[in-house]
Amino acid sequence: MTPFNSYLLILVLTLALSQSSVVLSKYHVHIGSDLGEGLELGIHCKSGDDDLGIHWLPYGTNFTWSFNINLWGTTLFYCNFQWEHVTGHYNIFEAGRDRNRCCNACYDNCYWAAKQGGLYFYNYETKNYELQYPWPMSMVKT
Ligand SMILES: *[C@@H]1O[C@H](CO)[C@@H](O)[C@H](O)[C@H]1NC(C)=O
Repeated sequence: MTPFNSYLLILVLTLALSQSSVVLSKYHVHIGSDLGEGLELGIHCKSGDDDLGIHWLPYGTNFTWSFNINLWGTTLFYCNFQWEHVTGHYNIFEAGRDRNRCCNACYDNCYWAAKQGGLYFYNYETKNYELQYPWPMSMVKT
């Protein structure tokens, strides 16, 4: 093969792999609005490639999106959260941290719940939502 042909082959393989949900399984992230009756959760999530837009979630609803982890394993989604006078900015999916932490046994679903105390991540081993990111205390009325 000429060097040009090898380059082409590698390029085509890379593109094929990065698009393939068979080789790299697809992840689904769910963020539940669980702040309480009458409270809406504003979220705005982005990655290097995607801007998922601003969404206001009524109590008891989920925002869900799906994606493949990139070939380099560097996929990162971060989100802005807002409710009443509280705002926070957190990494919601980091490939290195979450690829095995999300529920692999249930098809790579990652569950988050936004509650009054902060953001809780579902631990499928203990079957509990665990507080991961408390809201900035200065903003939470007590
Ligand atoms: C979000 O979806 C999960 C999984 O279906 C569910 O267990 C959870 O109760 C939902 N959260 C809210 C706030 O509706």
